[in-house]
Amino acid sequence: MPQPYQEYIDKILIPEDKLQARVRELAAEINRDYAGKELLVICILRGGVMFLTDLIRHIEVPLAIEFMAVSSYGTGVRSSQGDVRITLDLNTNIYGRHVIIVEDIIDSGHTLSSVIDLLKTRDPASIYVCTLLDKYERREVEVPIRYCGFKIKNEFVFGYGLDMDEYYRNLPFIATVDLDKYGPPAG
Ligand code: IMP
Ligand code: MG
Repeated sequence: MPQPYQEYIDKILIPEDKLQARVRELAAEINRDYAGKELLVICILRGGVMFLTDLIRHIEVPLAIEFMAVSSYGTGVRSSQGDVRITLDLNTNIYGRHVIIVEDIIDSGHTLSSVIDLLKTRDPASIYVCTLLDKYERREVEVPIRYCGFKIKNEFVFGYGLDMDEYYRNLPFIATVDLDKYGPPAG
């Protein structure tokens, strides 16, 4: 069983109302930028799911959604080391389409940078990144971000799609963790 988050939470960094308000602002920007166009919104599993479903509720241009999954080495609270594999590829052709990639957080940048490089080889009409969080201090690879929810400091966060050892993605807020009090689930 995972430990109840109340035992190791440090603080609520972004409460639900702030998240929802910012998500609506991002959708409004996208509505303006893509007026008269069609969108293909690609969500990176699994962390981007909560953000995707809230964001697209407020997007008014016609859109389709697709999913990709990427695995990077390192689980739990460590981040990727630049060794990124596509574990689930798209089911659709992106040639000539306007693509927005929806991601939960950009940390070192390795994950998104690999995804963008791959997708560009398939000749979309355009490709831009929409990330909920930008942990900018940790960037190792440059990633162009067009839409960003919040810039955050170098702290491990969970909730609203982001996990700790695969749990707590369902929490409606983003919180920071007190690592001295956290123990991964057994098994
Ligand atoms: P990057 O390749 O280092 O940019 O890593 C991005 C991925 O690492 C994200 O998609 C998340 O899955 C994961 N990640 C990075 N920081 C955090 C965090 O603070 N909490 C939860 N997951 C994180
Ligand atoms: Mg992720």
